[in-house]
Amino acid sequence: MNLKTAYEPYFKMGAAISRWNLHTKAHTDLLLDQFNSFTCENDMKPMYYLDRDKNKENPDKYDITPALTFEHAIPYLEFAKENGIAMRGHTLVWHNQTPKWFFCQHYNEHFPLADRETILKRLESYIKGVLTFVQENYPGVIYAWDVVNEIVDEGDFRKSIWTKTVGNDFFIKAFEYARKYASKDVALFYNDYETALDWKRDFIIENVLKPLMEKNLVDGMGMQSHLLMDHPDLNDYRKAVESYGALGLQIHITELDMHNADPSEESMHSLAERYKEFFNIYLDARKSGKANITSVTFWNLLDENSWLSGFRRETSYPLVFHGK
Ligand code: GLA
Repeated sequence: MNLKTAYEPYFKMGAAISRWNLHTKAHTDLLLDQFNSFTCENDMKPMYYLDRDKNKENPDKYDITPALTFEHAIPYLEFAKENGIAMRGHTLVWHNQTPKWFFCQHYNEHFPLADRETILKRLESYIKGVLTFVQENYPGVIYAWDVVNEIVDEGDFRKSIWTKTVGNDFFIKAFEYARKYASKDVALFYNDYETALDWKRDFIIENVLKPLMEKNLVDGMGMQSHLLMDHPDLNDYRKAVESYGALGLQIHITELDMHNADPSEESMHSLAERYKEFFNIYLDARKSGKANITSVTFWNLLDENSWLSGFRRETSYPLVFHGK
């Protein structure tokens, strides 16, 4: 039995992969054996599509139609197409991993920020370019896109270069453009972390999802789910799954891992038990119809490749596979 077969009646099972994974046969074998979906960990983020050299060499030509490159994305898309495995697109719009020059006059980070109209035109052109490239060359490969990532922070909309240049409605615009250019069978997601915190859950529902739903611009809520051994509380998490589910949107668990720095057998057992509790929440929600969870993705394949060891500065064993 493998993960994808075990959960097939309920949701897709996925993992994030990096370039290293993609070029290591043992890792792609593991991916194809256990999973039926994957996410590109980094190479399909804005900084990798925006062609720095072309835009900077010819800023007038590309002022409102930024030049794009797909050299980083293509190997993943080819792999997905060749192997018949589905992909989540991650992520079109984010404040991180997006170059400052994209927001500046003449694509020059030493110049002032460009005005709202210019940034919106660049945004539309960029979203159109990415979606069109993927849909024309790899039709049917990407079933869902994280259109916008992480715009809520500290009780409010996050202050970022996006809100500074465009304003708080930049996410609505991004979804409008995504809806305009996405194929009908591609689902559009809002994605965020700590989505089980009371205030954040309520803020996202009221100020992000409902306004998007009124305009029929969003299909799903992405709960990243970077978990700890003692946080979040299971009841809070269940409540969040059911609250997003009650909106009638699809739910994807998009970046599942559980930080755990203790590799002892006892600790691994506790990790497995806690994972079981979360998967019970997913299955209960799905079976009872309280939340339409359609995809669950681990954030990388193997403990050895998890971002958490770097981020937390202690070796982490947060996933369900290691040592391959
Ligand atoms: C966020 C992003 C991911 C990734 C992680 C850290 O959750 O959505 O793309 O960068 O941080 O690895």
